[in-house]
Amino acid sequence: MPLAPASISISRATSRLFALVPCAGIGERSGAQGPKQYASLAGRALVAHTLAALASVRRLTVTLVVLSPSDTQFETQVPGFGGWVSRDGGATRAESVANGLAVLGARGALDQDWVLVHDAARCLLRPAWVDALIDACIDDAVGGLLALPVADTLKAERCGRVHATVDRRALWQAQTPQMFRLGLLREALAGGTAGITDEASAVEALGHAPKLVAAPLENFKVTYPGDFELAEQLLKARAR
Ligand code: CTP
Ligand code: MG
Repeated sequence: MPLAPASISISRATSRLFALVPCAGIGERSGAQGPKQYASLAGRALVAHTLAALASVRRLTVTLVVLSPSDTQFETQVPGFGGWVSRDGGATRAESVANGLAVLGARGALDQDWVLVHDAARCLLRPAWVDALIDACIDDAVGGLLALPVADTLKAERCGRVHATVDRRALWQAQTPQMFRLGLLREALAGGTAGITDEASAVEALGHAPKLVAAPLENFKVTYPGDFELAEQLLKARAR
């Protein structure tokens, strides 16, 4: 049997996998009373579902949750959480992620370790999708993300009317987790985080091409008021 290239076996032997969950937003678009991550869905806080899915991914060394400095709810809303918690959230998602990377580094994560950044608000996550992302990226030079090929015909708008129909054939909707090496991600976010809404775009700006790994629509991000009901119905259906 041919031997695997040395670099692959070295990277497998020396790289650990960390999850980083930005959870410091206010959920403005959700219309919820408090931060959407603590909305109750099917008997527990939204983010508790997210973290339970990550806890079932055996290859993850630990999950770091990045909370707002003013968060007083996490410990009561997610009792018994077995990962790491930091209250270093920033003004934007990208800032929260960048701050979380610094925390991981301070706690011993190395530049060659992988970081899987996952939105707290994607509470329908299934461990099998995370495993598929890891399998697809673990030997990749750059890393990648879960994403969904666009299904609908896309319209560009101008003043409330269709300005153009956009060719959807090469378009994907970015989801999370997004998996990159800690050193690369730190470098990508070091240039400033303005306008950055996911890790991949920051990595792309360095000239890299992250891998697209197909995932289902079900991995949607709870964003608008109607999303809570949909997420709850799906979670309840899984429990039955
Ligand atoms: N997030 C974060 N720090 C911020 C903003 C967002 O950690 N300053 C987190 C959110 O908690 C969420 C994830 O990033 O889990 C994805 O962001 P989004 O869905 O936009 O959440 P919010 O920013 O809270 O919502 P909105 O944009 O509607 O205010
Ligand atoms: Mg936001």
